[in-house]
Amino acid sequence: MAEKKQAIYPGSFDPITFGHIDIAKRALTLVDNLIIGVGINSEKKELFSADERKILISEVFKNNPKVSVISFDGLLIDFAREIGVFSVLRGLRAISDFEHELQLSSLNRHMDNRFDCFYMMTSEQYSYLSSSMVKEIARLNGDVSSLVPDNVYKALRDKYHHV
Ligand code: PNS
Repeated sequence: MAEKKQAIYPGSFDPITFGHIDIAKRALTLVDNLIIGVGINSEKKELFSADERKILISEVFKNNPKVSVISFDGLLIDFAREIGVFSVLRGLRAISDFEHELQLSSLNRHMDNRFDCFYMMTSEQYSYLSSSMVKEIARLNGDVSSLVPDNVYKALRDKYHHV
């Protein structure tokens, strides 16, 4: 039997948005299993704990056995080594994402040359979407129901407005 194609889709997912979900679903046409790796981006202040983020993502993909969700708190490359998967998927929105992605990919490959990234362009309708903007809109009482799934919408409302 042919070996299963697996990839890690890492990110901070704070919280997961329709943009991430779109990338994950499209990637599932290319790989057999997608491991969503919930990591820590030290440049970002987190709203949801790693456990909360993991639960929200697991709820979204609960009916999809091809997706698993794992959180990691160290280096991405160590997580890749731990699970033995070195193909890594990242979504690209605008040209402004490119520099950061180049750095992430190059440094990870420098640490372990088994590491390799592949990229998918975000679908046009989500090209403007980011978790940071979603948080800002939700915090200021704007409507994010068209940007995130229901469970995330409710979790944001609970965080910011305690209702
Ligand atoms: O969704 P994000 O914030 O762009 O995801 C970034 C993430 C979490 C994938 C990245 O910050 C990461 O890999 N963090 C783990 C720590 C690490 O390996 N840092 C060195 C990267 S070269």
